[in-house]
Amino acid sequence: MPPIHLTVDGEAVTRDVDARTLLVHLLGDGLDRSGVNVGCDSSNCGACTVLLDGRSVKSCTVLAVQADGREVTTVRGLAWEGEGWHPLQAAFSACHALQCGYCTPGMIMAAKDLLDANPRPTDAEIREGLEGNLCRCTGYAPIIAAVSQAAQRLATDDADA
Ligand code: FES
Ligand code: FES
Repeated sequence: MPPIHLTVDGEAVTRDVDARTLLVHLLGDGLDRSGVNVGCDSSNCGACTVLLDGRSVKSCTVLAVQADGREVTTVRGLAWEGEGWHPLQAAFSACHALQCGYCTPGMIMAAKDLLDANPRPTDAEIREGLEGNLCRCTGYAPIIAAVSQAAQRLATDDADA
């Protein structure tokens, strides 16, 4: 089959892939995106979450060929306008919203999609927005606090712009 062409974290990529190759394996194994994790074999943990054309997807549920011609963003591509960490990354650190960190990249990408759609979510809306992502360490409270803190920072930055 012909190669696929996609954009990953702003970089144009062309790859030959098998028709059965999953996007999570292309990103993790083929493109060295170490922030795209496999945490289950049942599509329920969310550790593999990336953005596909700006919307969060579990990349273990997407075939690589389905990303042909599209834009993929992993946590590595979540830079903040040259300032280093994105507010979500900074807030996860500040709020101690990770322990082992295995869920964190996927959690942050799901939160990015959530805040893009709903810039000022309530705690209940954050919980609902992240319900597809499991964390086995934190008990979720610091994650909710981090997403809320990032939302406030983003709103402040927008107001100052
Ligand atoms: Fe668990 Fe994708 S690896 S949902
Ligand atoms: Fe360990 Fe979430 S920080 S699974």
